[in-house]
Amino acid sequence: MIGGQWGDEGKGKIVDLISPSFDLVARYQGGHNAGHTVRFQDKHFALRLIPSGICRQGVMNIVGNGLVIDPRALLYEMETLRAAGVEIGDNLKVSDRAHVILPTHALLDGAREKALGSANIGTTSRGIGPTYESKANRTGIRLADLVDADRFVELARPLLTHQGAVLRHFYGTDAPPVDAILQEYIECGQKLRRFVTDTSAYLGHELARGKKLLCEGAQGVMLDVDHGTYPFVTSSSCGPGGAVTGLGIAPRSIGLVLAVSKAYTTRVGSGPFPTELHDELGDRIRKRGNEFGTVTGRPRRVGWFDAVVARTAARLAGIDGIALTKLDVLDDLDEIPVCVGYELEGQPANEVPARADHYERVRPVLEVFPGWKTSIEGAATFDELPENAQRYVSALEKLTGVPVVILSTGAKREQTILRGRGILDGWLRDLDRT
Ligand code: GDP
Ligand code: IMO
Ligand code: MG
Repeated sequence: MIGGQWGDEGKGKIVDLISPSFDLVARYQGGHNAGHTVRFQDKHFALRLIPSGICRQGVMNIVGNGLVIDPRALLYEMETLRAAGVEIGDNLKVSDRAHVILPTHALLDGAREKALGSANIGTTSRGIGPTYESKANRTGIRLADLVDADRFVELARPLLTHQGAVLRHFYGTDAPPVDAILQEYIECGQKLRRFVTDTSAYLGHELARGKKLLCEGAQGVMLDVDHGTYPFVTSSSCGPGGAVTGLGIAPRSIGLVLAVSKAYTTRVGSGPFPTELHDELGDRIRKRGNEFGTVTGRPRRVGWFDAVVARTAARLAGIDGIALTKLDVLDDLDEIPVCVGYELEGQPANEVPARADHYERVRPVLEVFPGWKTSIEGAATFDELPENAQRYVSALEKLTGVPVVILSTGAKREQTILRGRGILDGWLRDLDRT
């Protein structure tokens, strides 16, 4: 399951909803830049690193090698979940090959953003990009190293010293003393040790036994480091290819790809966004959709559904079905425009340009659909939806060439219409939606 837009599509809700049909749920990329919301009964969780299957009993949760992990954030998340009554023990495994975010990675992230000024990316300043850099330049530290105090000190001291010098001399910022960081991280390593294992080997074994795995993408295809709106992207591969490398599983083990997409579009941070609304209507949708970042609290930018983005996602990820979320947020609109294509300098341009400065100049071609002007909350089947809501969903299917197999009409588990259309048969058992 991947994000089909620029993140925050409602992946947490959908993963939590369908995870009882799976034996294992795994995160495969990103870090605590992700904020995946799960709501049921009166409970509300914002998951960062731990897979959204954690609230369901009998599901094994895997944090894969493709992630970058701040051990303090992971321990904090475990404590918060435990305090809320969620069991964390033998139901969680963390890859020994996942990379460690050090405090200096986060400081570098923040310092670079500050230095960029108005040209910044608008990162979450959690150190995600700099940690993937350390991974790629082969100076990174992995969980397998963190849990061995001597080895950790041997590897981390030179990296911390180097990054401290860059921060001091280039950015004029101080980092905490190296020894204090080492001590804090050694303690974290000892606390995390029982969870750290070779998750690729474990998954290989489980898949060979016929167990079903749900891979939970973070961010979304348009934030993908290769195919997104570079450089306004995150630093990992958000699509199904990322699941293969980020979990150490074979490509042929992927049987079905679902994309979660909002019935409109949002993005947090800088970068091109052709259908963005800059007016009062945008504010209204932001308020109604509660479009404020789960991680940073920043107001999310809001715009219309973009079928070019959806078709790009379908091509890149081979999407079998869409889980369309937040349809209820559009309930009170008279008219709902949808971007059906792009124009660049008066010419049709129906692919996403490679250059962000070109993408900024793209104009959306909008087609307007009538609203339904009534609450869709509580609709249990597609046929119960107002006719105009049905028409809107069918139009998105036609424009994207992908069937909408799950329809979300509210933040809670039970506010969901499962359509399936054959695609989900054999994948989803009878779901307990409460
Ligand atoms: P994720 O990062 O893709 O998991 O998405 P987030 O959790 O960051 O943001 C999605 C927000 O929308 C959360 O506050 C969810 O509780 C909420 N949400 C999810 N689905 C729906 C829906 O169908 N309708 C409404 N109104 N809210 C939803
Ligand atoms: P989930 O998984 C939305 C955005 C940031 C910024 C860019 C780079 O909840 O959908 P980074 O800190 O990753 O280097 O920031 O990516 N971004 C997200 N936007 N949802 C997310 O995660 C995001 N994770 C990163 O706002 O524009
Ligand atoms: Mg989110």
